[in-house]
Amino acid sequence: MQHIPVLRQEMLDLLAPQDVGVYVDGTFGGGGYTKAILESANCKVIAFDRDPYVKVIADKFEADYKERFNFFHAKYGDIRSIIESKFDGLVLDLGVSSFQLSDPSRGFSFNLSGPLDMGMGLCEGTAQDIIRKYSERDLADIIYTFGEERFSRRIAKNIKLNLNKISNTQDLANIIRSCIKKIGKTDPATKTFQALRIFVNDELEELKKVLRDSAHLLNTNGKLVVVSFHSLEDRIVKSFFKELALEKNRFKLLTKKPITPTLEEISRNHKSRSAKLRGITVLY
Ligand SMILES: C[S@@+](CC[C@H](N)C(=O)[O-])C[C@H]1O[C@@H](n2cnc3c(N)ncnc32)[C@H](O)[C@@H]1O
Repeated sequence: MQHIPVLRQEMLDLLAPQDVGVYVDGTFGGGGYTKAILESANCKVIAFDRDPYVKVIADKFEADYKERFNFFHAKYGDIRSIIESKFDGLVLDLGVSSFQLSDPSRGFSFNLSGPLDMGMGLCEGTAQDIIRKYSERDLADIIYTFGEERFSRRIAKNIKLNLNKISNTQDLANIIRSCIKKIGKTDPATKTFQALRIFVNDELEELKKVLRDSAHLLNTNGKLVVVSFHSLEDRIVKSFFKELALEKNRFKLLTKKPITPTLEEISRNHKSRSAKLRGITVLY
């Protein structure tokens, strides 16, 4: 399984890497964005990923690009404690990679049988812990808040009632499928799996932290460029950029409306269909 970078050229156009610039790739993954940045200018990339599995890819980049590339196995929300000097751009390609999604042992997919894990790395618990530890009411709130699932109460009730029958991703998906109707093509388990994954990885707090901390680490002309995949993420990025843009002399939006993939990209890479790209730049 390969990870095909989404909106790669559009991301590069906004980030506009320059020779001698320093860019942070907060979501290294398969290294698709990092490679595009390093190939487009004689610049340096500092990359982060919380997933220990990507270390082998990062090692290869370190061998190929030498001092132009540095990797940290860390969460981007901890950027402030890792990077002290200013840089020229930060790019985030949010969510899980195809490597993570397609590996049954990671437990992200409701189509594959695997342990109820869903951790990308450096997490405090698993999806299994959540369905066991939280009360029915709290579980429903998690599913509602992070999955925007309107049947959250019914799903939480069924999960709790069948807890001893749930030991892997397929068991959980089937319990969800058994209590809500399929509407259109979407699997009824989609939103609940999204909610558990976001909660296990504390994804929204991570995003808020990195945006807040990196905005003030940017050099003049520095850019923040983010690709999001669902409305909860996009809302955070949109409102944070809007807030920064109120400081009119200091920040300027690069995208009044988000950039989305062309039909051609969607037909090549179906996973890109919900991507939204936004950017902002520092004027001084
Ligand atoms: C969509 S993939 C990125 C793909 C990459 N742009 C490429 O072209 O190959 C997202 C990656 O971000 C990582 N990630 C997600 N949240 C993170 C966080 N808070 N800190 C560091 N890495 C994170 C995931 O482990 C995953 O490898």
